[in-house]
Amino acid sequence: MTLLAIYDHSNTLAGGQIAPLPQLFTGNAELIASELGQRGIGFERWPARASLAPDADQAAILAAYAPEIARVQQGGGYATVDAIRLNPEHPDRVALRQKFLAEHTHSEDEVRFFVEGQGLFCLHIKGEVLQLVCQQNDWIAVPAGTRHWFDMGSEPRFCALRFFNNSEGWVAAFSGDPIAQSYPFLDALLQPQGAP
Ligand SMILES: [Fe+2]
Repeated sequence: MTLLAIYDHSNTLAGGQIAPLPQLFTGNAELIASELGQRGIGFERWPARASLAPDADQAAILAAYAPEIARVQQGGGYATVDAIRLNPEHPDRVALRQKFLAEHTHSEDEVRFFVEGQGLFCLHIKGEVLQLVCQQNDWIAVPAGTRHWFDMGSEPRFCALRFFNNSEGWVAAFSGDPIAQSYPFLDALLQPQGAP
């Protein structure tokens, strides 16, 4: 289930020794879209499509979602799109997870659509931290300049379409703030006993 937790960062102790308490923790899709929308984050749930073949390549994945991709690209935005797919057997999963785990910004929007599986987006906006467990069929648009990090978990299992305005793709500016260490990671949020 898609989940959103919102924290007042001023109440969070650095270092993550004590799990911070969210002010809001919800799986209500309408409330999630509303709370994110109030903070300038785009969020939609797109209709499900037939599941992809295990060996579907990049071209097959993009072809399966051609109508949705065309809709996002209407008006000329996000001219570059690709698909990233990871499973727990991926040989580089540890390094890939680390790459996204530190707080960073981009000079362009970060726009993702989860075709399969799940991932955790964490957004640091004006004294708040928002943690969003994205699931299959979730579409998220994080505006340029928003501080954020992403956790695919210790056993990554997801496929996401990535939309870019920049043909060079993923370029990050790291803030150097260890804030991610103070908040739960995906594994903890997916455990029922780990939920606040
Ligand atoms: Fe990012």
